[in-house]
Amino acid sequence: MEKTNLLYEGKAKKIWETEDKNLLISEFKDDLTAFNGEKKSNEAGKGALNNKISTELFKLLEKKGINTHFKEMLDDNNMLHKRADVIMIEVIVRNIATGSLSKNLGIEDGKILPFVLVEFDYKNDELGDPKLNDQHCIILELVDNVEELDILRKVAREINDILKPYFANIGLNLVDFKLEFGKDKDGNIMLVDEISPDNCRFWDIKTGEKMDKDRFRQGLGGLKVAYEEVLNRILAK
Ligand code: C5P
Repeated sequence: MEKTNLLYEGKAKKIWETEDKNLLISEFKDDLTAFNGEKKSNEAGKGALNNKISTELFKLLEKKGINTHFKEMLDDNNMLHKRADVIMIEVIVRNIATGSLSKNLGIEDGKILPFVLVEFDYKNDELGDPKLNDQHCIILELVDNVEELDILRKVAREINDILKPYFANIGLNLVDFKLEFGKDKDGNIMLVDEISPDNCRFWDIKTGEKMDKDRFRQGLGGLKVAYEEVLNRILAK
C-alpha cells in the first residue's frame, strides 16, 4: 500500500492517505514533545519503537475482541489502519495517581486509586486539552449523545482490564494511559491512534523505575533504552 496525500501532521505522527479511501498510513516520527508542545526534542528510533509496541498491543486487543483501527505494520515506522472520524476527546484511564491528577487535586503521587478512574480531556492544543464533563461533551458536539460517552468509558475499562494484567506479567505497573477513539464509515466506534510509552505510564514493578515518556518530561534521560526494554519484554512474552 503506497502513501498518496499527506492528510495531517501531528506532534508524533504523519497521517497519509492511500489509494484506498478507507485506509490510512500513520508514519511514526522520532519527535518528542511535552507540556503541550513547550518542550521539544528528537530521539532517533523512537518512532519505530512506538510503531512496534502499538502493533503488538493492537493485535492483543483485537484478539480479545476490542474493535481497533489497526490493519498491519508496513515497516519500521509505518502502520496501515482504517480511516476514522476521530472523536476529539482524550480518554484518560488511571490506576495509580500521578501526573496531572496529583498536581491538580493534590492526591499523593503513587497512591493506588480505589477504583479505575476514567476522565475526558478536550483534544484541543490551543486550549491546552482542558478537562471535560459529559455536558461539555454534548454542548461541544464532540459526540452525538451520552450513550456514546458511556461506550467510551466501557471500552476504556475493558482495555484496562486486558492491559493491566498483561503488563503486570512482564513486570510493569500500568499506571495510566490515554486512548483516542473514532467512528468508521458505518458509525461504529473503534480505538484509534497508538498505545505506546508516549501515551502510557509504566513503572517497573521491582525497581519503580519509570519506563515511559516521563523520562523526557522530567529530564531523566534514558528514554530510548526504556522504550526498548518495554518492547523487548512484550516480544519475549
Ligand atoms: O498528564 P496526565 O497525568 O494527565 O497524563 C495521563 C496519561 O495520559 C499519561 O499516561 C500521559 O502519557 C497520557 N497523555 C497523553 N497525551 C496527552 C495527555 C496525557 O498521552 N495530551
